[in-house]
Amino acid sequence: MSRKPIFAANWKMNKGPSEAEDFVKSILSKIQNQPFSCDVVIAPAYIALPKAAEALNNHHGIAIAAQNCSQFDSGAYTGEVSVVMLRELLVHYVILGHSERRAIYGETDEVINAKLKKAREANLRPIFCIGETLQEREAGKLESVLRTQITEGLKGLSEKDMTETVVAYEPVWAIGTGVTATSEQAQEAHAFVRSVIADIYGPETAAKVRIQYGGSVKPNNAAELMACPDIDGALIGGASLDPQSFLDIIHNGTVEK
Ligand code: 13P
Repeated sequence: MSRKPIFAANWKMNKGPSEAEDFVKSILSKIQNQPFSCDVVIAPAYIALPKAAEALNNHHGIAIAAQNCSQFDSGAYTGEVSVVMLRELLVHYVILGHSERRAIYGETDEVINAKLKKAREANLRPIFCIGETLQEREAGKLESVLRTQITEGLKGLSEKDMTETVVAYEPVWAIGTGVTATSEQAQEAHAFVRSVIADIYGPETAAKVRIQYGGSVKPNNAAELMACPDIDGALIGGASLDPQSFLDIIHNGTVEK
Protein backbone atom coordinates (compact mmCIF):
# COMPACT_ATOMS: atom_id res chain seq x y z
CA MET A 1 0.00 0.00 0.00
CA SER A 2 1.62 3.22 -1.02
CA ARG A 3 0.66 6.36 0.83
CA LYS A 4 1.55 9.80 -0.48
CA PRO A 5 3.84 11.48 2.05
CA ILE A 6 2.62 14.72 3.56
CA PHE A 7 4.87 17.42 4.98
CA ALA A 8 3.27 20.20 6.99
CA ALA A 9 4.77 23.37 8.43
CA ASN A 10 3.26 24.30 11.77
CA TRP A 11 4.43 27.85 12.34
CA LYS A 12 2.70 28.09 15.73
CA MET A 13 2.65 31.73 16.95
CA ASN A 14 5.28 32.90 14.48
CA LYS A 15 5.04 34.99 11.30
CA GLY A 16 2.44 37.67 10.79
CA PRO A 17 0.89 38.40 7.38
CA SER A 18 3.94 40.03 5.79
CA GLU A 19 6.38 37.34 6.92
CA ALA A 20 3.95 34.65 5.75
CA GLU A 21 3.79 36.36 2.37
CA ASP A 22 7.60 36.55 2.17
CA PHE A 23 7.89 32.85 3.02
CA VAL A 24 5.42 31.82 0.32
CA LYS A 25 7.06 34.03 -2.30
CA SER A 26 10.45 32.65 -1.40
CA ILE A 27 9.33 29.05 -1.61
CA LEU A 28 7.56 29.58 -4.94
CA SER A 29 10.66 31.16 -6.41
CA LYS A 30 12.83 28.32 -5.15
CA ILE A 31 10.66 25.53 -6.57
CA GLN A 32 10.20 27.24 -9.96
CA ASN A 33 6.98 25.39 -10.82
CA GLN A 34 8.60 22.01 -10.16
CA PRO A 35 5.79 19.80 -8.81
CA PHE A 36 6.20 18.10 -5.45
CA SER A 37 5.86 14.33 -5.34
CA CYS A 38 4.27 14.63 -1.90
CA ASP A 39 1.59 16.78 -0.30
CA VAL A 40 2.87 20.04 1.16
CA VAL A 41 0.92 22.09 3.69
CA ILE A 42 1.66 25.32 5.56
CA ALA A 43 -0.15 26.31 8.74
CA PRO A 44 0.15 30.04 9.42
CA ALA A 45 -1.52 31.84 12.33
CA TYR A 46 -5.17 32.73 11.65
CA ILE A 47 -4.32 36.33 10.93
CA ALA A 48 -1.77 35.39 8.26
CA LEU A 49 -4.05 32.94 6.39
CA PRO A 50 -5.45 35.44 3.86
CA LYS A 51 -2.02 36.77 2.90
CA ALA A 52 -0.60 33.27 2.59
CA ALA A 53 -3.51 32.23 0.37
CA GLU A 54 -3.14 35.35 -1.74
CA ALA A 55 0.60 34.81 -2.19
CA LEU A 56 0.05 31.17 -3.17
CA ASN A 57 -2.26 32.42 -5.89
CA ASN A 58 -3.96 29.05 -6.38
CA HIS A 59 -0.67 27.19 -6.56
CA HIS A 60 -1.93 23.64 -6.37
CA GLY A 61 1.15 22.06 -4.87
CA ILE A 62 0.84 23.79 -1.50
CA ALA A 63 -2.25 23.67 0.69
CA ILE A 64 -3.13 25.80 3.67
CA ALA A 65 -3.98 24.62 7.17
CA ALA A 66 -5.33 26.45 10.17
CA GLN A 67 -3.77 25.67 13.52
CA ASN A 68 -7.09 25.34 15.31
CA CYS A 69 -10.84 25.81 14.87
CA SER A 70 -13.88 26.17 17.07
CA GLN A 71 -16.08 23.21 17.89
CA PHE A 72 -19.09 25.53 17.54
CA ASP A 73 -20.82 26.97 14.46
CA SER A 74 -21.20 30.64 15.41
CA GLY A 75 -22.26 32.91 18.22
CA ALA A 76 -20.95 34.13 21.54
CA TYR A 77 -17.49 32.53 21.55
CA THR A 78 -15.11 35.44 21.90
CA GLY A 79 -11.78 34.89 20.19
CA GLU A 80 -12.85 31.81 18.27
CA VAL A 81 -12.90 31.06 14.53
CA SER A 82 -15.40 28.71 12.89
CA VAL A 83 -14.79 26.10 10.23
CA VAL A 84 -17.06 27.97 7.80
CA MET A 85 -14.89 31.08 8.19
CA LEU A 86 -11.82 28.98 7.48
CA ARG A 87 -13.36 27.50 4.35
CA GLU A 88 -13.99 31.02 3.10
CA LEU A 89 -10.21 31.59 3.32
CA LEU A 90 -9.41 28.57 1.12
CA VAL A 91 -8.16 26.55 4.06
CA HIS A 92 -8.21 22.80 3.47
CA TYR A 93 -6.59 21.33 6.55
CA VAL A 94 -6.79 22.04 10.26
CA ILE A 95 -4.35 20.97 12.99
CA LEU A 96 -6.28 19.62 15.98
CA GLY A 97 -5.23 18.12 19.28
CA HIS A 98 -1.74 19.58 19.26
CA SER A 99 -0.01 18.95 22.59
CA GLU A 100 0.33 22.70 23.12
CA ARG A 101 -3.45 23.05 22.84
CA ARG A 102 -3.90 20.11 25.20
CA ALA A 103 -1.35 21.28 27.78
CA ILE A 104 -1.65 25.09 27.68
CA TYR A 105 -5.33 25.51 26.77
CA GLY A 106 -6.68 22.45 28.53
CA GLU A 107 -8.20 20.83 25.44
CA THR A 108 -9.55 17.43 26.41
CA ASP A 109 -10.09 14.43 24.16
CA GLU A 110 -13.78 15.35 24.21
CA VAL A 111 -13.18 18.90 22.96
CA ILE A 112 -10.76 17.63 20.33
CA ASN A 113 -13.33 15.08 19.21
CA ALA A 114 -15.97 17.83 18.86
CA LYS A 115 -13.52 19.90 16.79
CA LEU A 116 -12.66 16.94 14.56
CA LYS A 117 -16.36 16.38 13.88
CA LYS A 118 -16.93 20.04 13.14
CA ALA A 119 -13.94 20.09 10.80
CA ARG A 120 -15.24 17.07 8.89
CA GLU A 121 -18.72 18.63 8.60
CA ALA A 122 -17.03 21.46 6.69
CA ASN A 123 -15.00 18.97 4.69
CA LEU A 124 -11.73 20.14 6.22
CA ARG A 125 -8.98 17.57 6.57
CA PRO A 126 -7.87 17.29 10.17
CA ILE A 127 -4.23 16.83 11.11
CA PHE A 128 -4.99 15.04 14.34
CA CYS A 129 -2.09 15.19 16.81
CA ILE A 130 -1.42 12.66 19.51
CA GLY A 131 1.59 11.88 21.66
CA GLU A 132 2.83 11.00 25.12
CA THR A 133 4.84 13.00 27.64
CA LEU A 134 8.22 11.75 28.83
CA GLN A 135 6.72 10.92 32.20
CA GLU A 136 4.04 8.78 30.57
CA ARG A 137 6.60 7.01 28.38
CA GLU A 138 8.86 6.32 31.33
CA ALA A 139 5.94 4.99 33.34
CA GLY A 140 5.26 2.44 30.57
CA LYS A 141 2.02 4.16 29.55
CA LEU A 142 2.88 4.94 25.93
CA GLU A 143 0.37 2.53 24.42
CA SER A 144 -2.48 3.26 26.80
CA VAL A 145 -2.06 7.04 26.33
CA LEU A 146 -2.04 6.75 22.54
CA ARG A 147 -4.95 4.30 22.51
CA THR A 148 -7.09 6.64 24.63
CA GLN A 149 -6.23 9.72 22.58
CA ILE A 150 -7.06 7.89 19.34
CA THR A 151 -10.22 6.16 20.53
CA GLU A 152 -11.68 9.21 22.26
CA GLY A 153 -10.54 11.69 19.63
CA LEU A 154 -12.03 9.77 16.73
CA LYS A 155 -15.30 8.76 18.40
CA GLY A 156 -18.20 8.91 15.93
CA LEU A 157 -16.04 9.61 12.89
CA SER A 158 -16.83 7.52 9.82
CA GLU A 159 -14.42 5.46 7.77
CA LYS A 160 -14.42 8.20 5.14
CA ASP A 161 -13.61 10.78 7.83
CA MET A 162 -10.73 8.59 8.95
CA THR A 163 -9.21 8.33 5.50
CA GLU A 164 -9.48 12.12 5.10
CA THR A 165 -7.69 12.61 8.42
CA VAL A 166 -3.94 12.74 8.79
CA VAL A 167 -2.64 11.56 12.15
CA ALA A 168 0.47 13.23 13.58
CA TYR A 169 2.38 11.30 16.20
CA GLU A 170 4.28 13.91 18.18
CA PRO A 171 5.98 12.71 21.35
CA VAL A 172 5.72 15.74 23.63
CA TRP A 173 9.31 15.29 24.85
CA ALA A 174 10.59 15.71 21.29
CA ILE A 175 8.73 18.94 20.50
CA GLY A 176 10.98 21.99 20.34
CA THR A 177 13.63 20.23 22.40
CA GLY A 178 16.09 19.18 19.72
CA VAL A 179 15.62 15.62 20.97
CA THR A 180 14.14 13.48 18.21
CA ALA A 181 12.65 10.07 18.75
CA THR A 182 14.99 7.48 17.28
CA SER A 183 13.67 5.97 14.09
CA GLU A 184 13.06 2.72 16.03
CA GLN A 185 11.02 4.52 18.69
CA ALA A 186 9.07 6.43 16.06
CA GLN A 187 8.39 3.38 13.88
CA GLU A 188 7.25 1.37 16.89
CA ALA A 189 4.81 4.09 17.93
CA HIS A 190 3.54 4.57 14.37
CA ALA A 191 2.93 0.86 13.91
CA PHE A 192 1.03 0.85 17.19
CA VAL A 193 -1.06 3.87 16.12
CA ARG A 194 -1.90 2.11 12.86
CA SER A 195 -2.89 -1.03 14.76
CA VAL A 196 -5.29 0.96 16.95
CA ILE A 197 -6.83 2.54 13.84
CA ALA A 198 -7.15 -0.98 12.42
CA ASP A 199 -8.93 -2.11 15.60
CA ILE A 200 -11.51 0.64 15.06
CA TYR A 201 -11.80 0.87 11.25
CA GLY A 202 -10.29 -2.35 9.98
CA PRO A 203 -6.90 -3.03 8.40
CA GLU A 204 -7.81 -1.75 4.94
CA THR A 205 -8.71 1.72 6.17
CA ALA A 206 -5.73 1.76 8.56
CA ALA A 207 -3.41 0.99 5.66
CA LYS A 208 -4.64 4.13 3.87
CA VAL A 209 -4.22 6.58 6.76
CA ARG A 210 -1.17 8.78 6.66
CA ILE A 211 0.69 9.09 9.94
CA GLN A 212 3.16 11.95 10.25
CA TYR A 213 5.97 12.14 12.75
CA GLY A 214 6.54 15.43 14.57
CA GLY A 215 9.15 16.53 17.09
CA SER A 216 12.47 18.17 16.21
CA VAL A 217 12.40 17.09 12.57
CA LYS A 218 15.33 18.74 10.76
CA PRO A 219 16.87 18.46 7.30
CA ASN A 220 19.54 16.11 8.70
CA ASN A 221 17.20 13.59 10.35
CA ALA A 222 14.28 13.62 7.90
CA ALA A 223 15.59 10.85 5.62
CA GLU A 224 16.13 8.32 8.37
CA LEU A 225 12.75 8.94 9.98
CA MET A 226 10.85 8.95 6.69
CA ALA A 227 12.44 5.67 5.59
CA CYS A 228 10.44 3.87 8.30
CA PRO A 229 7.56 1.88 6.82
CA ASP A 230 4.78 3.48 8.90
CA ILE A 231 6.02 7.07 8.77
CA ASP A 232 4.28 9.00 6.01
CA GLY A 233 5.62 12.51 6.37
CA ALA A 234 6.29 15.08 9.03
CA LEU A 235 4.70 17.87 11.00
CA ILE A 236 7.46 20.40 11.47
CA GLY A 237 7.66 23.31 13.88
CA GLY A 238 10.93 25.25 14.28
CA ALA A 239 12.65 23.94 11.16
CA SER A 240 9.70 24.92 8.97
CA LEU A 241 10.08 28.64 9.63
CA ASP A 242 12.86 28.99 7.11
CA PRO A 243 11.82 28.22 3.51
CA GLN A 244 15.07 26.51 2.57
CA SER A 245 15.08 24.34 5.67
CA PHE A 246 11.45 23.32 5.04
CA LEU A 247 12.26 22.48 1.42
CA ASP A 248 15.34 20.50 2.49
CA ILE A 249 13.21 18.42 4.86
CA ILE A 250 10.72 17.72 2.06
CA HIS A 251 13.51 16.86 -0.33
CA ASN A 252 15.53 14.69 2.08
CA GLY A 253 12.40 13.09 3.50
CA THR A 254 10.89 12.02 0.21
CA VAL A 255 12.46 8.61 0.11
CA GLU A 256 11.69 5.43 -1.78
CA LYS A 257 10.34 2.70 0.47
P1 13P B 1 9.39 21.22 16.46
O1 13P B 1 9.63 20.74 15.04
O2 13P B 1 9.78 22.64 16.68
O3 13P B 1 9.95 20.27 17.46
O4 13P B 1 7.78 21.21 16.67
C1 13P B 1 7.07 20.08 16.36
C2 13P B 1 5.63 20.40 16.42
O5 13P B 1 5.09 20.62 17.49
C3 13P B 1 4.90 20.48 15.16
O6 13P B 1 3.53 20.54 15.39
